[in-house]
Amino acid sequence: MFLKLITIIFFILLFQSLKSSSQSLTYTNGFNPPNNISLQGITTVTPNGLLKLTNTTVQKTGHAFYTKPIRFKDSPNGTVFSFSTTFVFAIHSQISILSGHGIAFVVAPKPSLSSGTASQYLGLFNITNNGNSSNNIFAVELDTIRSTEFNDIDDNHVGIDIDSLTSVESFRAGWWDEKRQFKNLSLISRKPMQVWVDYDGGTNKIDVTMAPFNEDKPSKPLVSTVRDLSAVLLQDMFVGFSSATGSVLSEHFILGWSFAVNKNAPPLDLSKLPKLPRFVPKKISEFFKIGMPLISLFLIFSAIFLICYIVRRKRKFAEELEEWEKEFGKNRFRFKDLYYATKGFKEKDLLGSGGFGSVYKGVMPGTKLEIAVKKVSHESRQGMKEFVAEIVSIGRMSHRNLVPLLGYCRRRGELLLVYDYMPNGSLDKYLYNTPEVTLNWKQRIKVILGVASGLFYLHEEWEQVVIHRDVKASNVLLDAELNGRLGDFGLARLYDHGSDPQTTHVVGTLGYLAPEHTRTGRATTATDVFAFGAFLLEVACGRRPIEIQHETDETFLLVDWVFGLWTKGNILAAKDPNMGSEFDEKEVEMVLKLGLLCSHSDPRARPTMRQVLHYLRGDAKLPELTPLDLSGSGMMFGFQDGFSELGMSYSSSVFKGFTGGSSIADSLLSGGR
Ligand SMILES: Nc1ncnc2c1ncn2[C@@H]1O[C@H](COP(=O)(O)OP(=O)(O)O)[C@@H](O)[C@H]1O
Ligand SMILES: *[C@@H]1O[C@H](CO)[C@@H](O)[C@H](O)[C@H]1NC(C)=O
Ligand SMILES: *[C@@H]1O[C@H](CO)[C@@H](O)[C@H](O)[C@H]1NC(C)=O
Ligand SMILES: *[C@@H]1O[C@H](CO)[C@@H](O)[C@H](O)[C@H]1NC(C)=O
Ligand SMILES: *[C@@H]1O[C@H](CO)[C@@H](O)[C@H](O)[C@H]1NC(C)=O
Ligand SMILES: *[C@@H]1O[C@H](CO)[C@@H](O)[C@H](O)[C@H]1NC(C)=O
Ligand SMILES: *[C@@H]1O[C@H](CO)[C@@H](O)[C@H](O)[C@H]1NC(C)=O
Repeated sequence: MFLKLITIIFFILLFQSLKSSSQSLTYTNGFNPPNNISLQGITTVTPNGLLKLTNTTVQKTGHAFYTKPIRFKDSPNGTVFSFSTTFVFAIHSQISILSGHGIAFVVAPKPSLSSGTASQYLGLFNITNNGNSSNNIFAVELDTIRSTEFNDIDDNHVGIDIDSLTSVESFRAGWWDEKRQFKNLSLISRKPMQVWVDYDGGTNKIDVTMAPFNEDKPSKPLVSTVRDLSAVLLQDMFVGFSSATGSVLSEHFILGWSFAVNKNAPPLDLSKLPKLPRFVPKKISEFFKIGMPLISLFLIFSAIFLICYIVRRKRKFAEELEEWEKEFGKNRFRFKDLYYATKGFKEKDLLGSGGFGSVYKGVMPGTKLEIAVKKVSHESRQGMKEFVAEIVSIGRMSHRNLVPLLGYCRRRGELLLVYDYMPNGSLDKYLYNTPEVTLNWKQRIKVILGVASGLFYLHEEWEQVVIHRDVKASNVLLDAELNGRLGDFGLARLYDHGSDPQTTHVVGTLGYLAPEHTRTGRATTATDVFAFGAFLLEVACGRRPIEIQHETDETFLLVDWVFGLWTKGNILAAKDPNMGSEFDEKEVEMVLKLGLLCSHSDPRARPTMRQVLHYLRGDAKLPELTPLDLSGSGMMFGFQDGFSELGMSYSSSVFKGFTGGSSIADSLLSGGR
């Protein structure tokens, strides 16, 4: 009876132990629905039943555990039973040569591994608990990244891990075929592969075997080690998978799985396993879906922008070039160069503006030559050809008393004349209104002589007669040695094509205009001489030809005043008090008288520039004149009669530089500015 009871108890125990020790599970038709499987992290089950441990989210972990505990031992201090598992996996990486980080089959004390971190920790451990024997974790890693901190052998290996990512034993992924030949396998090949893990409770041998999909289990394991897991595994444990992503977008799949204690894992019916999705580089397709329109939009916008830029630039630097200009090629400047030379015609580089336009200082990009660019606005094409021909011919002139004209450039409604830069500016600023720097007589006579020989050159020495049309102090520029150089020649002509006497445009500056010029509208060498006479008086007296006394509102005429002093026998009183005391009285007197003679209202009474030069150089003596001679011979200082006509005969175009404010007369009288 007692024996019977003992026997019954023994059989119950044996039955119990057998019952617990032959636990097994099989997932061969996929994991959908995920019966008794706990999904954690980014792990999901696909509609067709794949266990998708990770999707393409970076730096994440995914876990899947069988929810029921597995009894590995009889008692907490017992020895671990034999166990066996097999599974089919695949890894899809977005990049074919790189993936991250791998899959681990895991036996853990709890059905979760929430403290396991991503990347190289494979979701198994973290930096603090890695290697701690109280983890009680057994794992087989399929590692696709080489982590040197865990002594990984390469980036494609299979390893046996006990409480640590530093594998107990590992080998590069592959298998031994029937002929016992080793064949490499690539974990990240996107192909399904099968793995077997077997533990023999008797011999403590752990074997990990691997093979390509549809191959039988190789007889020779890939990784093999002897280790008693009794100290590692607790009595009840949980089995499952752990995976983690790093920075490379990778999907880790389990297609099928079986596990058993104390017997071989049930074989998987490979034909029933869910199919892997066709590999689509998802991120790339998304990238193309969202990125392509963005990129094309961006490209279109940049193209539009570029076109606008080019068009604007083209327009900005547009020039006019006509057939007839070809022959003047080398005198023609490119607008672009002038634009850069003057730094875009900045206000700061403005040297001044005169009746014809603004003058800018510039430095030629290539030659570093200092230039002055005169911008003349010019609407009509009329006379342009002649004018350009003339300035080009002027460009060929070289005389030390002319401002060298280097060339020109033509744009719509704009003409640009390029001159040598004259460092000392125009003469007028040394003469009027208590200037900061004045010139002594020696300097003045040098300037006068220079201007006279420049004008003589234009009138008689050049191959054709060139009439300056606008001789005046502000058109005389001083070079580095304070030589007087005539500038602006010929420019007046651009506005002064007096072919039709009815619409004659007289160009010049009030006070320098000969009376017959305003009457007939014709500029001649004699009208230049008249202006030169006014210039002589200007330089000698330091006063403008016409001034308006603001208090009395009276017009002051320089010629009349000098003439008046002469009749009183005191012509020297007219000289500029600012020019110091060192001067030759005779010379000053001669210049003043010559100035009056040139200002004669009768053009026939005026000397020619040749004669003027003779007088100035002292080669000829100025005729002994008395005031009576001049007035007796009908000398009239023509301003009075000229002035009355000016209102009508002056072309407004000449004075387009004026900006409102004071009366017209004021502006006229202030010298064309
Ligand atoms: N080649 C040059 N070098 C230096 N300064 C110049 C040059 N040409 C003109 N300027 C300056 O620009 C100013 C305006 O010149 P311009 O238009 O010729 O005057 P205006 O029409 O009154 O004769 C002048 O007063 C002078 O100071
Ligand atoms: C899984 O769970 C289902 C119901 O939740 C249960 O009927 C079945 O027995 C379980 N399977 C295993 C292998 O434990
Ligand atoms: C990955 O899976 C998680 C959890 O299911 C989800 O929140 C996430 O959006 C998924 N990421 C991608 C890229 O599919
Ligand atoms: C298990 O072993 C530990 C020490 O190794 C001992 O303290 C404990 O009593 C043992 N338990 C059983 C049930 O034998
Ligand atoms: C690592 O895991 C352990 C539990 O195993 C946890 O106590 C610890 O806080 C974790 N450390 C980090 C840094 O996550
Ligand atoms: C191992 O982990 C346990 C519990 O998490 C802890 O008490 C112990 O200090 C750890 N040992 C080492 C060596 O870190
Ligand atoms: C297998 O891989 C290893 C290293 O990854 C390499 O050295 C070896 O040549 C490969 N063998 C074959 C047959 O491709």
